[in-house]
Amino acid sequence: MKRKLDQYIKEHSSAEDPVLEDLCRQTYIRFVNPNMVTGHLQGKFLELISKMINPEQILEIGTFTGYSTICLAKGLRPGGNLITIELNDELKEFSHSYFTRAGLDQVIVQKTGNAIEILPSLNMFFDLVYIDGDKREYCDYYKLAKDKVKPGGYIVADNVLWGEKVLDTGTTDKQSIGIIDFNNMLMNEKDIEHVIIPLRDGITLIRKL
Ligand SMILES: C[S@@+](CC[C@H](N)C(=O)[O-])C[C@H]1O[C@@H](n2cnc3c(N)ncnc32)[C@H](O)[C@@H]1O
Repeated sequence: MKRKLDQYIKEHSSAEDPVLEDLCRQTYIRFVNPNMVTGHLQGKFLELISKMINPEQILEIGTFTGYSTICLAKGLRPGGNLITIELNDELKEFSHSYFTRAGLDQVIVQKTGNAIEILPSLNMFFDLVYIDGDKREYCDYYKLAKDKVKPGGYIVADNVLWGEKVLDTGTTDKQSIGIIDFNNMLMNEKDIEHVIIPLRDGITLIRKL
């Protein structure tokens, strides 16, 4: 039943951009852990969120092969740009080729390295931040990025349900603990409003007051 419903949802949402469809296919052929790729429905969701915000500056933590980067960049206002940070330098050429194919290479700035080291050096403010890096580091990304978000700006975090492992409060798995700590930390934040959307692996939308 769930599979049929998933199919129905796909068939009744906008079709996947052919460039993204190809990016996804090639990711599965060429890279390890291809299931990290954002994919059709979540990608469309991110694209529409970005189009609603119509940001001037976007920051992304965790480019991988660039699927979500392209989706988010589609919502940029004219003259805006997106900075995306990826630890693995072997992915840069591949993702860049798809940024070019999507006609977005001029507005996407790729930074290779550890987001925790790079973030403090970014002297700018963002309308939208997308967190999709190492699950153990979500609290650190959030704390570093939050000061760089404009009032009224948004932070979006992926995988916040972590395959339902967030319900296992006794877990010793470091990635699950990272997500659980992140979700708990947000509950103590006084200057945000936020909601978890149960799309795919869970997405939190956070608005900085
Ligand atoms: C889940 S994938 C990102 C998926 C991507 N957003 C997409 O749409 O396909 C996570 C990525 O974050 C990268 N990463 C992990 N830790 C990082 C860090 N500290 N700084 C930058 N990138 C990091 C990983 O190398 C991996 O490519």
